Amino acid sequence: MIDCPRVTRSAPAKSLGLLLLCLLPVTLLADPAAVPTQRQLELFSSNCVQCHARPGIGAPLMGNAGDWKSRQAQGEEVMLVNVVEGIRGMPPLGYCSACNEDDFRVLIRLLLPATEQQP
Ligand code: HEC
Repeated sequence: MIDCPRVTRSAPAKSLGLLLLCLLPVTLLADPAAVPTQRQLELFSSNCVQCHARPGIGAPLMGNAGDWKSRQAQGEEVMLVNVVEGIRGMPPLGYCSACNEDDFRVLIRLLLPATEQQP
């Protein structure tokens, strides 16, 4: 019978635990939806901006706090459903058939006015 030395058994387990402990804050803090990727910026400019940067067609304008106030009050989940299903002049998926749910969350945030950081 082969006797496994105890050191080699416990050492890797210990360092794995340490590694997980170090990675935990990183995974908690890093919100993958917070920063748009190059691909998402392209989806944004080719699908959303054409309407949301054009005044007079009923689309809430990009970054315009007044246009977005009541919509933001509904919450992101409601806006997401309205984007996916379409609502009045807003076409289903905003014409972006290549967008997934994460993309839509990022794209919606790009349209919203910048939020002031509370002290
Ligand atoms: C054909 C023009 C058009 C395109 C393309 C378009 N939108 Fe819209 N969008 C609108 C209009 C018009 C409204 C206002 C609808 C209303 O409430 O009457 C709107 C509303 C919205 C709203 C608010 C929904 C709510 O709950 O009130 C969001 C969020 C939104 N669009 C996101 C997007 C995103 C993200 C894209 C790109 C993927 C996009 N739109 C592409 C025209 C467009």
